[in-house]
Amino acid sequence: MHKAAWILLLLAGGASTSAVAADQRLQAWIEQQADFSYQRVLEAISPADGARGSVMASPSRSEPNYYFHWIRDAALVMREVWRARERNPSTAQLLLSEYALFSRSNQLTSNPSGRPDTLGLGEPKFNMDGSAYDAPWGRPQNDGPALRAITLMEYAHFLIDRGRTDLVRDLLYRGELPAETVIKADLEFVAHHWKDASFDLWEEVLGDHFYTRMAQRRAMVDGARLARRMNDSGAALFYEQQAQAISESLESFWSPSSFHILTTLNWAGGHTEKVSNLDVAVILAVNQAASPGWSFSPSDPRVMSTAVRLTEAFEQAYSVNSGKRDHEGQAMNPGIGRYTEDRYNGVGTDGLGNPWFLATHALAEYFLRLGAEIRSSGGVLITPESRTFLSRFASLEFAPGQSILTRGDGRFQALVDSLALHAEAWIRRSRQHTSSAGNQSEQFNRDNGYMQGARDLTWNYASFLSLFDSLHP
Ligand code: NOJ
Ligand code: NOJ
Repeated sequence: MHKAAWILLLLAGGASTSAVAADQRLQAWIEQQADFSYQRVLEAISPADGARGSVMASPSRSEPNYYFHWIRDAALVMREVWRARERNPSTAQLLLSEYALFSRSNQLTSNPSGRPDTLGLGEPKFNMDGSAYDAPWGRPQNDGPALRAITLMEYAHFLIDRGRTDLVRDLLYRGELPAETVIKADLEFVAHHWKDASFDLWEEVLGDHFYTRMAQRRAMVDGARLARRMNDSGAALFYEQQAQAISESLESFWSPSSFHILTTLNWAGGHTEKVSNLDVAVILAVNQAASPGWSFSPSDPRVMSTAVRLTEAFEQAYSVNSGKRDHEGQAMNPGIGRYTEDRYNGVGTDGLGNPWFLATHALAEYFLRLGAEIRSSGGVLITPESRTFLSRFASLEFAPGQSILTRGDGRFQALVDSLALHAEAWIRRSRQHTSSAGNQSEQFNRDNGYMQGARDLTWNYASFLSLFDSLHP
């Protein structure tokens, strides 16, 4: 069976009682788009005039010039290469190893964020030949080392599982200090600098960011496990303590008055227009970095309520979203941008922001992840925050005293079905604006829906593969 056909089977629990019918044509498109995305990702890695292990953010070299190795984009892309390794098992290991070596050389390259032995790991991007990028930029961006470590740790655990601890020690992680391996250096940086203000993932605002902190917590959680497996138990304890402290700091991002998670606290510089403090970065953070057993998982009611706020805000913000049916007459959910006050049109910040593919994919992925989590836990909490979600996305209302919805209740299946249908409706939105071959630029126009900004943004393809991956149970 095609993998995409699993969406409904899994989310609807395979139940014959489900009211949901599979959209076969959409499922075929999802398969095809995943293949296309994977090919584009491979083409972005180690291109002819880039160093081995580098990843271009886009082939576009002017208006805008995205021909750089961005630490964040590269980490998210390589994570998907690794997750999709069954497509090409021997290549995946080679690509991850080359990425690890290139990343280590980035760590050792003096750059405007500092010397390697000080703060240099927060440097957001490097030239494709590995040299430092010297022009002014929003720096540092401290999500980078965390995301890079998360990706490389997945590879490290795989190697340990196969008895290749020697390789991990040579290439990825050794306990000694000062750190001489790529993962260890990143984990030490995160452990010691997560409290520092840095620029956000959109490279615009200096402050404390939910996205960055979520990535940092996940790096510390995963790092503690790796350290323990590598007999670095003092470090394991230290990373666990940092994870706990970061987690406590994350609590303050919830705003009971706005009813959503705030994207930034303690603004310290950069753009000022994001008065809503509402940003799809929160959903990206949950998709990419929620850790089982910790707060802010997909079914945390605060995350659910943030998803409602984002959907409603973007529905209003862009006229292209007034079209709610695709060419087949099927439901489409709104195209999602970064935040509604965005002025970056893909080339300059003097324009109007637009919906982004990767942000729209993030909502689809979030609904799939939420469905999977609810199905595996067998329940969802009924709180004022989750009520807004259950009402908006599943038309479910609950009596004042009810505090949980469990599998036994008929409304449970209705919820699971609705989540699957909404995920599909977001994927249709993406399909609507994608070229017939599968190309996706960074943005699609808020009024006419045509693509604009950096062409073939590699992160778009990674975000599609991530969505595709979350079709797994
Ligand atoms: C401004 C944009 O808002 C930001 O997100 C982007 O990273 C930089 N320009 C570089 O293109
Ligand atoms: C601009 C985006 O804001 C940023 O998140 C990204 O890293 C770069 N473009 C490169 O894709």
